[in-house]
Amino acid sequence: MPEKKIIIAIDGYSSSGKSSMAKALASKIGYRYIDSGAMYRSVTLWAMRKSIVKDGNVDIATLIASLPEINVDFRVMPDGKQHTLLNGEDVEELIRHLDVSSNVSQVSVIPEVRHKLVDLQQKLGDGKGIVMDGRDIGTTVFPNAEMKVFVTASAQTRAQRRLQELIDKGIPASYQEVLANVVQRDHIDETREESPLRKADDAEVLDNSVMSIEEQNKWLLDLYNRRINS
Ligand code: DC
Repeated sequence: MPEKKIIIAIDGYSSSGKSSMAKALASKIGYRYIDSGAMYRSVTLWAMRKSIVKDGNVDIATLIASLPEINVDFRVMPDGKQHTLLNGEDVEELIRHLDVSSNVSQVSVIPEVRHKLVDLQQKLGDGKGIVMDGRDIGTTVFPNAEMKVFVTASAQTRAQRRLQELIDKGIPASYQEVLANVVQRDHIDETREESPLRKADDAEVLDNSVMSIEEQNKWLLDLYNRRINS
């Protein structure tokens, strides 16, 4: 394994497959993987439980005042996978539910929420040797990352993938509601004022609409090898 450690930022649309490819690359090259979306989802779950967020409406002032009470962390569990912890509770599965997906964009637009999570993300990247995926990793969290990728695919392809993930996990959902959620989140993510979803100027674009998982993993590994040897 090369001595040089870098930061790898993988941004893109929801359900573009960026988490799977980021995870696969991290495990292949021995880097830590961080799912920044899981952090926004955890804050959203916390706020939903307190009824601070309901049906897409957020009590912004109360949420901001409550932020010091919310702690999000990651830990490798006995199943060998990294799980998300919300104040010590394993919420890895709960944060993937559609009700969290339906509220998370509204929570993610709040600048104070973003500042708190961006701080945490930057601390996690202190030692480099990290693959982080999200929406603003290459633009805001690690603007100096040595490798940046922007992943995209059609909304229909992404909705189909997310539906399959939900079905595999036994979480009930229909294609129409998943597609509506994907389209709505794209819109909110792209148009929010604070660090909107946008390709960094120096990011490589990957449209994986018609790529197999093996092809996209190889594309990513080849890019890493080029970066690490440059
Ligand atoms: O990647 P995901 O679908 O699990 O992300 C959930 C939501 O979190 C997404 O709708 C937008 C938000 N998010 C964000 O605003 N910034 C990030 N770096 C990661 C996610």
